[in-house]
Amino acid sequence: MTKEHYNWATLGTGVIANELAQALQSQGRRIYSVANRTHEKGLAFAQKYGIDKVYDKIDDVFDDPDVDIIYISTPHNTHINFLRKALAAGKHVLCEKSITLNSDELDEAIQLAQENNVVLAEAMTLFHMPLYRQLPALIDSRELGPLKMIQMNFGSYKEYDMTNRFFSRSLAGGALLDIGVYALSFIRWFMSESPSQILSQIKLAPTGVDEQVGMLLTNAAGEMATVTLSLHAKQPKRGTLIYEKGYIEIFDYPRGEKATITYTEDGHQETIEYGQTAKALSYEINDMEKAVNGNNTMHIDYSKDVMDIMTAVRKEWGIIYPEEE
Ligand SMILES: NC(=O)c1ccc[n+]([C@@H]2O[C@H](COP(=O)([O-])OP(=O)(O)OC[C@H]3O[C@@H](n4cnc5c(N)ncnc54)[C@H](OP(=O)(O)O)[C@@H]3O)[C@@H](O)[C@H]2O)c1
Repeated sequence: MTKEHYNWATLGTGVIANELAQALQSQGRRIYSVANRTHEKGLAFAQKYGIDKVYDKIDDVFDDPDVDIIYISTPHNTHINFLRKALAAGKHVLCEKSITLNSDELDEAIQLAQENNVVLAEAMTLFHMPLYRQLPALIDSRELGPLKMIQMNFGSYKEYDMTNRFFSRSLAGGALLDIGVYALSFIRWFMSESPSQILSQIKLAPTGVDEQVGMLLTNAAGEMATVTLSLHAKQPKRGTLIYEKGYIEIFDYPRGEKATITYTEDGHQETIEYGQTAKALSYEINDMEKAVNGNNTMHIDYSKDVMDIMTAVRKEWGIIYPEEE
């Protein structure tokens, strides 16, 4: 049975769960129910957003027949156990990035979703921004020629607190899973096929997770990409698509709303704007509900390609999370 709107439960009440609640509020809606490790924080979150139902235990959310979609926004290493329970219970799931720790976990979750005939998606905002939905056709219409290279930067200044989730090995920290996933998802969105050759170098944080990353990726079509990530230094969040006859820059690309095309034959520029950064989670919610209604454009296939890359490079680096030991 298809519906216009579905009942969302949030599993997690942190920074990004607040954004989901606010996005639903902006649509005149509210989250249906709350599951959270610390019950009091669940209660406070529910009070803040006028939500009636807070479960005593997290696992109660999986048994609630009125829950349609579970939004998981706990640390990366906790996702797979919640995914297993949610998908087995026949719930559709939108799970925060990075959706799992590695490819084996994601393969298992994808199979579970298929067996239970439910939608599984990663909350990768850029896949849902109108700019990204429009750009491929627009690029074709501008006759820029073939894609040659992509340059991705992402730097975030996180305090050197080795207990926070960004640097903590036991919370699956590190630049790759936290911010690299955006750069690789961008690359996958625009490349004609997933990169198959990858070189990389890293600088470790004192905890042994990746603090800085440099990557060079090439696919079978000869399209190349570079990625630079830093967790203790800012860099512009800039994605640059380099075509034969022009290049396109997108700033703040995870929730990008604007792109500038420079036509290199004569140097003239054009600015393209679609959608609004502030509505990023709203677009994601709408696409997820469309997917549940049978029009699935969530791109778990791209999430899988990205996870395969992250798993392969992390193996080369020798970074293993406690769950993988
Ligand atoms: N898409 C985006 O733009 C975006 C932005 C930010 C974050 N994220 C992703 O969202 C996730 C959460 O990030 P955040 O910044 O919202 O984190 P946060 O503010 O630290 O919140 C973390 C949430 O996870 C819960 N939690 C922590 N450890 C847990 C455990 N072992 N078992 C069960 N629950 C646990 C916390 O519960 P308590 O209340 O009990 O502490 C809290 O509800 C991460 O995967 C992150 O990569 C995505």
